[in-house]
Amino acid sequence: MDAISGAIDRKRRAGSAASGNGRVALVGAGPGDPDLLTLRAARRISEADAIVYDHLVGREILDLARRDAKLIYVGKERDNHTLPQEQINALLIRLAHAGSMVVRLKGGDPFIFGRGGEEIEALADAGIAFEVVPGVTAASGASCYAGIPLTHRDHAQTCLFVTGHLKQGGCDLDWDALVRPKQTVVIYMGLGQLGEIAKRMIAQGMRADMPVAVIEDATRASQRVVRATLETVAEAVKDAGLNPPALIVVGTVVNLNQRLAWFAGRTATAADAL
Ligand SMILES: C[S@@+](CC[C@H](N)C(=O)[O-])C[C@H]1O[C@@H](n2cnc3c(N)ncnc32)[C@H](O)[C@@H]1O
Repeated sequence: MDAISGAIDRKRRAGSAASGNGRVALVGAGPGDPDLLTLRAARRISEADAIVYDHLVGREILDLARRDAKLIYVGKERDNHTLPQEQINALLIRLAHAGSMVVRLKGGDPFIFGRGGEEIEALADAGIAFEVVPGVTAASGASCYAGIPLTHRDHAQTCLFVTGHLKQGGCDLDWDALVRPKQTVVIYMGLGQLGEIAKRMIAQGMRADMPVAVIEDATRASQRVVRATLETVAEAVKDAGLNPPALIVVGTVVNLNQRLAWFAGRTATAADAL
């Protein structure tokens, strides 16, 4: 930041706190590696009076906060929301009304399976000023760090992002869309339903030996990649003992991991069925 915008920023902060008009920055923290934060994200985190953060946000990123900043954990592991969504919305509104510069910090990108839209709807309704800072979503981080290009002229012209975590635990995905040729399917929050999802994709006509990668803890030193096929992946993941957060990539691009994996991470316990 140059000197002038720094001064304006400081003035704006002082002014907003004095007048009781706080604001909220909804900030994407990226998938894990702190070096993947945007410059704006890092700046907003370092300026914030209060940071309301989710469970996938790492310590190194929180360490960028001011020493006197309030750090408020609101959880949001699957099925284990520390604070219900309405209370998170209410907390953001309360902090902003008290004049705080609030950072609402979420893993990945706030607008991709992150309920960011719902949170800023509540802010908009309450008349709170907000901005949104995009982050590197897990699909980008995981695929890049695993050496699996999501599109590739020889393999996939389309890429679908879907969630495997469905209301009432059922799988009501658009199965026809999932099994189209020449595409890559990226499944967020799908580890718990992986066996079911793989079976349904095969039943819908996808070849049973379609390559699948499951990337655990992507972009962190602890990253692991398990490669298998649709038919074998549930077993392979169980054998390797993978845990969330994990991202599932389905498509022939997965084969490129064998040549293009560049990130050391933890040596892949690849149940390598290919
Ligand atoms: C609630 S969603 C949030 C997604 C986030 N907003 C994003 O853009 O990446 C959480 C899911 O994202 C995926 N995910 C997030 N971070 C990950 C990581 N470091 N490694 C693998 N998967 C990750 C997992 O599928 C996880 O269950």
